Amino acid sequence: RNTVLVISKAPLPNYRADLDEKHGQSQRKISISADTETHVESMLAKSIGKISVVKDSAGTSSHGDDSTLDERRKAVVNASPAAKSMTSFRKKLPAFKMKDEVLQAVSQNQVLVVSGETGCGKTTQLPQFILEEEINAGRGAACDIICTQPRRISAISVATRVADERGDELGESVGYQIRLEARRSQETRLLFCTTGVLLRRLVQDPLLEGVSHVIVDEIHERGMNEDFLLVVLRDLLPKRPKLRLILMSATINADMFSKYFGNAPKLHIPGFTFPVREFFLEDVVESTGFQSQNNQASSRFSGGRRIEKQKDSLTELFEEVAIQDTYKQFSKSTRKYLECWNPEIIDLDLVEAAIQHICEEKNDGAILVFLTGWDDISKLLDKLKLNPSVRNELLLPLHGSMPTINQRQIFQRPPPGVRKIVLATNIAETSITIDDVVYVIDCGKAKETSYDALNKLACLLPSWISRAAAHQRRGRAGRVQPGICFHLYPKLMYDAMAQYQLPEILRTPLESLCLQIKSLQVGSIAKFLSKALEPPELRAVDNAIESLKTIGALDDREELTSLGRHLATLPLDPKVGKMLLMGAIFQCLDPALTIAAALAHRDPFVIPIDKRDAADEAKRRLAGNARSDHLALMRAYEGYIVAKRHGRERNYCWENFLSAQTLQWMDGAREQFYDHLSKIGFVDNSSNSANYAVEITLQCLSPTYDAFLVQAYNKHSDDLEMVRAVLCAGLYPNVVQCKARGRRTAFFTKDDGKVEPHPASVNSRVGQFAQPWLVYSEKVKTTGIYLRDTTNISDYALLMFGGPLVSNGKGVEMLDGYLQFTASAKTMELVNALRSQLDDLLTRKIK
Ligand code: CDP
Ligand code: MG
Repeated sequence: RNTVLVISKAPLPNYRADLDEKHGQSQRKISISADTETHVESMLAKSIGKISVVKDSAGTSSHGDDSTLDERRKAVVNASPAAKSMTSFRKKLPAFKMKDEVLQAVSQNQVLVVSGETGCGKTTQLPQFILEEEINAGRGAACDIICTQPRRISAISVATRVADERGDELGESVGYQIRLEARRSQETRLLFCTTGVLLRRLVQDPLLEGVSHVIVDEIHERGMNEDFLLVVLRDLLPKRPKLRLILMSATINADMFSKYFGNAPKLHIPGFTFPVREFFLEDVVESTGFQSQNNQASSRFSGGRRIEKQKDSLTELFEEVAIQDTYKQFSKSTRKYLECWNPEIIDLDLVEAAIQHICEEKNDGAILVFLTGWDDISKLLDKLKLNPSVRNELLLPLHGSMPTINQRQIFQRPPPGVRKIVLATNIAETSITIDDVVYVIDCGKAKETSYDALNKLACLLPSWISRAAAHQRRGRAGRVQPGICFHLYPKLMYDAMAQYQLPEILRTPLESLCLQIKSLQVGSIAKFLSKALEPPELRAVDNAIESLKTIGALDDREELTSLGRHLATLPLDPKVGKMLLMGAIFQCLDPALTIAAALAHRDPFVIPIDKRDAADEAKRRLAGNARSDHLALMRAYEGYIVAKRHGRERNYCWENFLSAQTLQWMDGAREQFYDHLSKIGFVDNSSNSANYAVEITLQCLSPTYDAFLVQAYNKHSDDLEMVRAVLCAGLYPNVVQCKARGRRTAFFTKDDGKVEPHPASVNSRVGQFAQPWLVYSEKVKTTGIYLRDTTNISDYALLMFGGPLVSNGKGVEMLDGYLQFTASAKTMELVNALRSQLDDLLTRKIK
């Protein structure tokens, strides 16, 4: 770029320095005032060729007239070669050919259901059509289009793409907003946001005042938030006759949505995909000559310690019919592989063999591998980096919580002679389309939260995908030419898969959802949920309501308590939110922020399989004798902050088996949490007298450290007993009792009997505990029931921060007698005083 075109009303000298910094001194600058006519600019654009537009926001906001601005921009931007190729790409998308039909349908109907093959241009084009149309009709300034995405990463990726296509900076006319991050401004007219963001806006703004169009994308996925949003929107439509609602889905199930909205019109965008040949496990093993190298793979029939597994009907089915006639035609070694094949694990060696096979034998074309999550993606990456046939190719992970920097690479074509290999989760199934994929490797699984209403267990387990999803994955290989798909499971398994996946609302805990329903003031929770597309089981609803009562967010009449009101305004899991509130109130906010950040995302400890002992050891070192994973985590983070001051955080993470990426993410999350709390008036950041212990430590550790005043909200941050109590407030009723059994300790829960701390917990396999209780973050059911992240806490913590207390003659009890205490009258007096003061405080804080 050698010419910068400045469009501004502001006098140029104001930002000449800025321009110099951005574009270099040597460049020629031409300045044009904002009053200059459009045709002059486009003429210039044509004659000069390469032009980059620098828009001065102070200047443009005074334009007030979006339509000429947009014209100008289009004229100028369309002249660049990059823009031209993007425009021609757009024009080839099937959605583009339907532009007029779409716009007409939108103008004539309040609700429209649009379906079309993934990749046909729904997400990137439709919202853009509407925006262009509004601008052209002179309604640019008044339009406010919101397009929801089920995932953070797709909201960002799509917003970036659409801004690019419009030749706009991200955050100007097109922006995004996700839970902990936003790029938007006063000028933003088209906002891509996660569904949760829109739901939270509805609390403050139930009529969506000023919003002209709501586009709900990927509804076929049947995410919980989307299902919830549809109930709310259906009730809202009659109150906002001018509001337009557009529902977008892949081809599946469009009818169902149309019916739900009183037979709303449907529009289908016909697409075209090339045929894809598909192969199953048996074919893959046969053609690669792959032999089982995996000891685990043979454990299924190895007798002895056969792992006790979750009963899975598919697994059973496969065991019964495993080596039947169907497989007679295959070679002996293939049959052997099938015989040892373990449906419960993903054989990464086989995945590697399949990738290598394609790299060595097949023509050009990107490979898309579907795995379940970060764990297997990173393991496979490590393997591939060592494989001589693969390591020089372009290896790209694609995962929901990945940093956003590498995203554009995923869509770009690699340099000639290099093959792009994308290792993805099911995010690449529908929301993200990579065009040049020719080979798909499908492991057949995806991680999904499933909720067992009976046991109140939320499990995050890789489970078998549906046939519809397998079909979708296969289709990803046929975008540019005929493709090939390898399903790494037997055909038999495919035949036995469920046809569609169960909607999320029917398989996850409903606590957050219930709080949101209450704060939208739409009446009884159960009644509201009965209006859903497919209402959840009554038992699951009751469980959620019970749980909210237990943590004190709902009262007996199912109304929001003061605590509940505050929790509903925090975009967080109610328990995490409660922990933060208590951390702020009891002035130990820093530890609460750190622990909540890890709970909301994932903990930063990494456990390499081959160095498990060393990693465990490092974590135990951090925990000291605190008997707490949460405190270990807090110290890990504090250590990281100190190391960062010295610029040695990399070493620090390496030595302590920590993920720098997660810690960095936590940094951002902490800040966001802090903002949320301070927005609702819970942060007292007046400077307090210095906390000498912290100050002296920091001064010793960091020579460059200067005066440090502890804010009021951190006054008690190094009081570990206080922190434990706050942890208890957040994690209750996740409590187990520690009972000494000789030199060991056994743990009992209310509902599941005996359980164990997770092997990676610092409390796993330790002898005695000083205090009688453990609180835990999560109960997971894998090969047994394990408690992930635990902290040893005292009676007092529970008495003060646990659930409602009932006296029982001998003392008091909680959770229907599961937790029993004998406490003196004096203690009880204190406990009751604290509880009622806390309640008063929360009530006073309601705005
Ligand atoms: O929503 P739908 O699945 O119908 O398609 P889309 O996401 O709008 O994608 C349309 C086309 O734009 C596809 O060919 C994508 O590969 C491409 N695209 C891209 O190149 N970069 C993005 N960030 C998003 C989409
Ligand atoms: Mg889409």
